[in-house]
Amino acid sequence: MEPHIWNDKLNTGIAEIDEQHRQFFAILNRLQAAFGSFAERGVLVDTFTELIEYLRVHFDTEEALLERCNYPDLPLHREHHARFTGEVTELFRAYLRDAAGITRTTIGFLQEWLTNHIMNEDMKYKDYLSAQRHDLPPTG
Ligand SMILES: [Fe+2]
Ligand SMILES: [Fe+2]
Repeated sequence: MEPHIWNDKLNTGIAEIDEQHRQFFAILNRLQAAFGSFAERGVLVDTFTELIEYLRVHFDTEEALLERCNYPDLPLHREHHARFTGEVTELFRAYLRDAAGITRTTIGFLQEWLTNHIMNEDMKYKDYLSAQRHDLPPTG
């Protein structure tokens, strides 16, 4: 499986969000590389942990931004995030129980989910926010 290459179609135009999305793919590529090189279990566990922590950071950032902007579909967007976080956490638990529980397919699933989520769901708020960009509340 090729490492995921960032492309412009994934840009939301919101610098903080784009940076976090890029960071995500970087972590996933490291996870894939560690997996492919049969790295020590510790490396895989650390990278997986990092991924889950980063998911939380990113989803919190995104949801806080959407809340400040009164994004109407926030409840549904939150649900997508929560479901994925649950699935990833479950995959990680399965891996801790049995290392064979994680395969290349698993990593492919993570990459695919992220790409699809950005292209289909995050792009919806991009359109909403760009329509009212001039009065975007300050971050922080
Ligand atoms: Fe996102
Ligand atoms: Fe999202």
